Order: sequence, then structure tokens, then C-alpha cells
Amino acid sequence: MAQTHFGFETVDEAEKARRVRAVFDSVAARYDLMNDLMSGGLHRLWKAYTVAVARLQPGQRVLDIAGGTGDLALAFARQVGPRGLVVHTDINASMLRVGRDRLLDAGVVLPTVVCDAEKLPFPDRHFDLVSVAFGLRNMTHKDVALAEMHRVLRPGGRLLVLEFSRVAPPLQQAYDWYSFQVLPRLGQWVAGDADSYRYLAESIRMHPGQQELKEMMKKAGFGHVDFHNMTGGIVALHVGIRC
Ligand SMILES: C[S@@+](CC[C@H](N)C(=O)[O-])C[C@H]1O[C@@H](n2cnc3c(N)ncnc32)[C@H](O)[C@@H]1O
Repeated sequence: MAQTHFGFETVDEAEKARRVRAVFDSVAARYDLMNDLMSGGLHRLWKAYTVAVARLQPGQRVLDIAGGTGDLALAFARQVGPRGLVVHTDINASMLRVGRDRLLDAGVVLPTVVCDAEKLPFPDRHFDLVSVAFGLRNMTHKDVALAEMHRVLRPGGRLLVLEFSRVAPPLQQAYDWYSFQVLPRLGQWVAGDADSYRYLAESIRMHPGQQELKEMMKKAGFGHVDFHNMTGGIVALHVGIRC
């Protein structure tokens, strides 16, 4: 079997999928609280910027991949309105369940689909916008997933990839200290799970940087790709257009 990375470890591909599932099964209940604590609330600004860049119109069709606890799906649903459609998807049923409950509490009912981004159960050229926030990093075959995202977009449709990226050099030392010293301890304290947050820090280092991801998106078929750095490159939003 082919090998891949799970954080800094080299593992079989099936083992990676199993361990990623275990990470999100473990953190699902505390995921939103941990996001606020880890990022000091910044993830809300990163997502608000993503929603602003999406510029959705009432009636449009959106696919949120790796949608987890539903932050983007909820914001998109408000933009597309009752005539539009937002499909909230994730490979992990525990994450999706937390998200679905949050959406219902907010009075929003969306189709919720458990599916793998590498094998999307949707027709070609179906969506106006596809989004994936902090999900691509966890996928085993990112090239396959990006090609699937391209396939389900209509020509002129856009893919938004919000993901951790490469920080600017002056921030590197402090960021490494925070990632490897503080995050696992915070994970242990709040979620009773240091390992999942160690994986988070490691997986960020193994994920392609801004330019490399841009090239991968072009290779997957996107005719135009641009990225916007946020918070000194801690996070980048890549926007790909299906031409
Ligand atoms: C860090 S969470 C992000 C959740 C949400 N998008 C957010 O921004 O808060 C990453 C999500 O990616 C999902 N994921 C990992 N591999 C996936 C795959 N192959 N297909 C779909 N989702 C996947 C995980 O189950 C998890 O819910």
C-alpha cells in the first residue's frame, strides 16, 4: 500500500484515513471551543473574510466540503436565502452531527451529507461555489480532492480553500513555540487530548505553502488561482476559478 504523512509520521494511506477520523471523533464535542481558544477568536475573522470573498447571490448553489461544525455553511445559507442551496458535507459523522445540531439551533435546515471529498457524490458542473475550510490538509490525495472540486463546479464557478499556510519569517519562531509547546497542552486541558493538537501543528508544517497549493489547484484544472494571506500567512485563502 502507498505511504503518506500523518503529521510528521509516515504511514500507510489507510492508516492515515483511520487516524484522521479518530482525531475528529475525539475533538468533535470541544471543536468550536478549542477553535476560539487556540486562535483567540481569529478563526471567526478568517471565515468572515472568506464569506465576504464568496460574494454569493440569492438563489446560488454552494457545496461546503469538510464543513465540520458548520460555520461557513451557516453564513452561506444566509447569503443564498431560501431559493438557494447549501450542501453541508464532511467525511466524519461526529463533526457533521455537531454542525447539523448547531444549524438547527440557528433555525437553518440544510442537506447534510457524509462524504469523502475524494469521491464527491454530486453531478458535474452543479455548484456556483465550493468551499473547504481547514479540511484539505487532512485529505490523503489532495490532488484527487481538488480535481473533484473542479468537476462539480460550473464553468465560472469558484473554489475557496481556507487553510493554514506558511507564516512570514519574523513570526516563525514564536509561531513554532506556540504550536508545539502551547497547543498540545491546551488540547489536553480543554479536550483531554494532546495528540490531536500535536497532529494539528505537525499537519500544518506538512501542508503545501501558498505558492505550491496555487500550482496544485492549477494542475487540478483551475484556469485562474489567486491567494490572500491573512495574519502574516498563518492562514491563506486560495480562490480558484473554473474557466
Ligand atoms: C479542522 S476541521 C474543519 C471544519 C470546518 N470546515 C471549520 O472550518 O471549522 C477538518 C474537517 O475535515 C474533515 N475531513 C478530513 N478528511 C476529509 C475528506 N477526505 N473528505 C471530507 N472531509 C474530510 C474532517 O472530518 C474535519 O471535520
